[in-house]
Amino acid sequence: MTKDCTPSLQLNNSNSVVGQKDSDLQGYSARRLNFLANAVNATRYLEIGVETGSTFKDVSCSSKTGVDPCFLFDWETCNGTNGVKLLNTTSDLFFHDLDPGTVFDLIFIDGLHTFEQTYRDIIHAVSHSHARTIFLIDDTVPCDVFSTCRNQDQCLNLRASLYGPGDPRWHGDTYKILPLLSVFNPEYEVATIIDNGNPQTLLWRPQVESASADQQFRAMQAMWAIQNLAAADYLWFLDNLALYNPLSEQEALEKVLNTLIQC
Ligand SMILES: C[S@@+](CC[C@H](N)C(=O)[O-])C[C@H]1O[C@@H](n2cnc3c(N)ncnc32)[C@H](O)[C@@H]1O
Repeated sequence: MTKDCTPSLQLNNSNSVVGQKDSDLQGYSARRLNFLANAVNATRYLEIGVETGSTFKDVSCSSKTGVDPCFLFDWETCNGTNGVKLLNTTSDLFFHDLDPGTVFDLIFIDGLHTFEQTYRDIIHAVSHSHARTIFLIDDTVPCDVFSTCRNQDQCLNLRASLYGPGDPRWHGDTYKILPLLSVFNPEYEVATIIDNGNPQTLLWRPQVESASADQQFRAMQAMWAIQNLAAADYLWFLDNLALYNPLSEQEALEKVLNTLIQC
């Protein structure tokens, strides 16, 4: 099921997003998160999937919680200092044990790159959010067909067998969360940043929920994807970019701030 909506995500021959400067590729997550944190006075930050802490350490919120079953830095030394709480566990176990009254203002989801885990992380995180919480979700835009493999080793081995080693990018099938959000979480709006670093999707509650004909059509596309999830492959993704609402970083961030629910 397609519509005449030309993808606005441009891919070059190496299948990376074009028009990026090297400086954009460093620190793009923290840059986007800090812009939003400053704009909405977010103080309570949650990051699922922290790894080396390169983003976590740079986010400027007074209270920061990070979750990872396999931290790649000396997390125990940082834990408990300057409002930092680090939990060496999976996101499922973290949410299971989390006090139901705990709420976050800004949430970065960057854990396991499968759609089931990422969607579960979002749904769990939603129950610890408020009307103005903003979510940033990584890995929603695969850079090539190899990148969509659910297994990271298979992704890298297949790509290397054709093009040689050296490209470590892996997004899994996280892209499949967009149809799920479209159908099951229509109260949320999405915008996917496609310039100035790795693409990422923003999720927030807009002031006014509207059901335009275009949105209804997208919901139908999303429903098809859910009913045929195995067939929603990389070609489906390329053919259905409109579901992701691809925008420049500036446009996407402005859109969030201009339409975020008022309390
Ligand atoms: C791409 S890295 C995160 C990068 C980090 N957010 C940053 O911006 O620097 C993904 C991390 O997710 C973690 N991870 C994998 N499965 C997870 C799970 N079930 N729950 C939480 N984190 C998980 C991995 O251990 C890995 O460190």
